[in-house]
Amino acid sequence: MPSPSIPQRRANPIQLHLAPMEGVIDHHMRELLTALGGYDLCVTEFVRVSDRLLPERVFHRLCPELAHDGRTAAGTPVVVQLLGVDPQVLAENAARAAELGAPGIDLNFGCPSRFVNRKGGGAALLDYPRRVHDIVAAVRRALPAQLPLSAKMRLGMEDDELALENALAAESAGCARLTVHARTRADGYRAPARWERLAAIREVLSIELVANGDIDGVAAWRRCRAVSGCDAFMLARGAVARPDLARRIRDDEADHAMGWEEVAGLLRRLAGMMEADYSDRNRGTRIKQWLAMMRGYSAEATRCFERVRPLRLYSEMAPRLG
Ligand SMILES: Cc1cc2nc3c(=O)[nH]c(=O)nc-3n(C[C@H](O)[C@H](O)[C@H](O)COP(=O)(O)O)c2cc1C
Repeated sequence: MPSPSIPQRRANPIQLHLAPMEGVIDHHMRELLTALGGYDLCVTEFVRVSDRLLPERVFHRLCPELAHDGRTAAGTPVVVQLLGVDPQVLAENAARAAELGAPGIDLNFGCPSRFVNRKGGGAALLDYPRRVHDIVAAVRRALPAQLPLSAKMRLGMEDDELALENALAAESAGCARLTVHARTRADGYRAPARWERLAAIREVLSIELVANGDIDGVAAWRRCRAVSGCDAFMLARGAVARPDLARRIRDDEADHAMGWEEVAGLLRRLAGMMEADYSDRNRGTRIKQWLAMMRGYSAEATRCFERVRPLRLYSEMAPRLG
């Protein structure tokens, strides 16, 4: 008699990426979060490219994983992100990152910093789809054929009128994947992400579209997936606020705050990883930054943040983490 079939729980056939976040998701954070599981890929904080080829040490500082085959300890590939304006200089730097072992290159067309935008970089490029095209094309030409090139953009600068044109410019110039943060620069970080705009972009693209913006829980991810129609997602603030978010999404679990003991263990581990090259004060700043981002998602994190708020040094905070 055939044995009755046992229903198998299947993990979601989706792609989950850990976002670049300058000053927040560094190599230590990537190591901690990818060890918890669920991520297919990480992108580094941006490497700022101006008018010259950067020394190797700059790439190694922002992406120490280059010394380990471009992967975190958990084996997750770490793509190197470049931010700049000049196609040729970006191309030279991309080639260097590739030589150093980056498993992919990502181009930043979304940075909202006034300083960067005044120089024509980041989101300011989205007013000029031709420039987006020329940058992607020059970088593509400089890279080995098999190395994936991706880009990350916002919907636009002031409005989203050029969103499709920019997405198509990136694709036609050789991007293999496009992440879209579903806000304009004018929206900043607060306005709700417009996932419905992603659906329109996805319809015109043949390459993979990665949805980004406001995915801060399993319920939000389900809504984003339904509205955008995407199968690839990038988690940013939500990944930091809820360290086990990718694992929960992958298993399509319910939204629950992570147990506090586990969270406190992660805070201690981050502080431990930073001991060699951060001062007591800088470690304290980073721990408070993480707790601040978890507030609103966990009552214990909110209480813990209040306990450490007046303190400056990590050594003073450590006994109060709970
Ligand atoms: C503090 C901070 C730093 C960021 N740094 C970068 C960066 O270096 N490169 C980049 O492409 N995006 C950067 N972003 C944007 C995020 O990757 C992401 O697109 C944005 O936060 C929207 O996703 P979210 O709503 O899930 O947070 C940063 C965002 C924040 C809040």
